[in-house]
Amino acid sequence: MANPMTSLMAKSSILAKKKRLVLVGTGIRGSTFWGKRVVGQYSDYVEFVGLCDINPGRLEFVKKYMGVDCPTFTDFDEMMKKTSPDMLIVTTVDATHHQFIVKGLKYGVEVLTEKPLTTDEDKCAEILKAEKESGKKLIVGFNYRYATLPTKLKELLISNEIGKVTSVDFHWYLNVYHGADYFRRWHGLRGKGGTLLVHKATHHFDLLNWFIDSDPVEVFAYGGLEHYGKNNAFRGEKCRGCAHRDKCKFFWDITQDQMAMDLYAANENYDGYIRDNCLWRNEIDIYDKMAVQIKYANDVQVSYSLTTYSPYEGWRIAFNGLNGRLDSWLDIPWRREEKLTQAELHAQEMSQEDDSDSTPDYDEAVIMKNFGDYKKIQIHAAKGGHGGGDKLLQDRIFVDQNMPDPMRHAAGTRDGVMSIMIGIAARKSIEEQRPVRIEELTSLKPSVKRL
Ligand SMILES: NC(=O)c1ccc[n+]([C@@H]2O[C@H](COP(=O)([O-])OP(=O)(O)OC[C@H]3O[C@@H](n4cnc5c(N)ncnc54)[C@H](O)[C@@H]3O)[C@@H](O)[C@H]2O)c1
Repeated sequence: MANPMTSLMAKSSILAKKKRLVLVGTGIRGSTFWGKRVVGQYSDYVEFVGLCDINPGRLEFVKKYMGVDCPTFTDFDEMMKKTSPDMLIVTTVDATHHQFIVKGLKYGVEVLTEKPLTTDEDKCAEILKAEKESGKKLIVGFNYRYATLPTKLKELLISNEIGKVTSVDFHWYLNVYHGADYFRRWHGLRGKGGTLLVHKATHHFDLLNWFIDSDPVEVFAYGGLEHYGKNNAFRGEKCRGCAHRDKCKFFWDITQDQMAMDLYAANENYDGYIRDNCLWRNEIDIYDKMAVQIKYANDVQVSYSLTTYSPYEGWRIAFNGLNGRLDSWLDIPWRREEKLTQAELHAQEMSQEDDSDSTPDYDEAVIMKNFGDYKKIQIHAAKGGHGGGDKLLQDRIFVDQNMPDPMRHAAGTRDGVMSIMIGIAARKSIEEQRPVRIEELTSLKPSVKRL
């Protein structure tokens, strides 16, 4: 939460001149989290002066949905020239982020990009060059770091109770709702999202880098596509009107989701973006199971995995130290005696609603010292978007970027690069069946202690 005094001072100085925002990519993330939520929460500090998307129908809907009165553009350069913004927000398809980041920096504005920074090493080099030449700042929207549980784990690691950390086990499970959804749209194509090793795991690799406080140096990985895509006996074109709807457990009735209908279905005639695509499409070329080994500059070793068709959504992490072990986990259903279905849990995860009225709940961590007893730690669980992380991230960006940051939650270019580098190296390792060194992929030198 923002320090009230700092916030007040920031507010009074900013009230005179609101930051002028433009946003490119008015899809679900752009229109809700970086759109309507920002208008609702930060209008004392910022104002939207332009919105851009290649889909004119979606643009018009989102302008009304956000409740703004600014001009809309299908031409990015025209928007940048006509609106003189202070800050650009990039929320387009992952593989296009670099185009807008590079141009935004060249236009001399502050740029905020959604994760992942980009999808391959060449685009990453373009971004690094543009940032250096512009002298402007690039912010990467890593929200997971700010959530209550990761923040407590970081605190426990800093307290050094388990001694020097030497290895980490980190396993992430996407359920048959959330995991499946990645295979319905552009995320299923490596040319658009860089595979889930980049699109999704960038969050997890960023958390690891932040927890371990060092940079990755070498990666080895395996991956396979054994469930979605070509693996099913039948497939249709899309869920709407599909002949297989009665026998397909993954049938999704988009007509019951008004936002998805307004945002995507109503505008598919402009760009052919089918939101309820068949997840058994033959064209899907990403992995649906992934296992990655990472070696860090400070000699920490990590075993990471990502599963996309788990019956439940959650994760488990364990830090092995020289003096003991720190274990934690999130959303394991029998631990919480969870009464919500996995579909309801997914909706809640993506929600930006304040959780102040919901039942208090807690997450857990356990510290066990070598030759000692275990200690259970309860951590208040914030339920707002991404464990409360979404709100804290935006407070820092829009209220006061200079507020104290003792845990180093704020993420910049180097963090964005180091997290995607693990995913890009893992992809390359799977393709070339060899360990891949980070120095093969970027001019940034891995550092024993994070810079
Ligand atoms: N941090 C998080 O938790 C989180 C959550 C969801 C999405 N995201 C990120 O947000 C971004 C958007 O994801 P989404 O789920 O909203 O996707 P989406 O498909 O709903 O939206 C993408 C939008 O970009 C537009 N677009 C694509 N190419 C364009 C171009 N060249 N020029 C202008 N507009 C273009 C599309 O028309 C669409 O409106 C992605 O990078 C994704 O990784 C982050």
